[in-house]
Amino acid sequence: MTDTKRIVLSSDHAAIELRQAIAKHIAAAGWEVVDIGPTTPESTHYPKHGEAAARKVASGDCALGIILCGTGQGIMMAANKVKGVRCGVCSDTFSARMIRQHNNANMLSIGARVVGEGLALDIVDAFLGAEFEGGRHGTRVDMITAIED
Ligand code: RB5
Repeated sequence: MTDTKRIVLSSDHAAIELRQAIAKHIAAAGWEVVDIGPTTPESTHYPKHGEAAARKVASGDCALGIILCGTGQGIMMAANKVKGVRCGVCSDTFSARMIRQHNNANMLSIGARVVGEGLALDIVDAFLGAEFEGGRHGTRVDMITAIED
């Protein structure tokens, strides 16, 4: 687990209940959760929620972020437009672990219409429990960063 235990959560309307379940789960594990909503069920636009969470990670205000929408895809695409963010959509625990270990992902995206709550919490645990391995993977992540520059 990373030293800085401050994490931002956000979603669109399709994932409010799952986001709140994740917030409760990781708060119980000792994370300081910055849940930036939304809290009401009206239809909203996932890009603005993905961007808002991504900016908290890119600025260093939060070490990591977890974002959700119906599929996890749209909000991930928005987050990845913010410089310094590496976000992957995961529907399995292996991928959630590997995006930390090999890709140094600083954000995780989950599809609330794709996975149930039990699996989602396991995915979150796999992501938060993994560490970046560096080495040859660092070279490759640096190559991703160079594309941004
Ligand atoms: C909203 O209906 C849905 O399009 C959104 O939650 C997400 O799945 C987009 O990628």
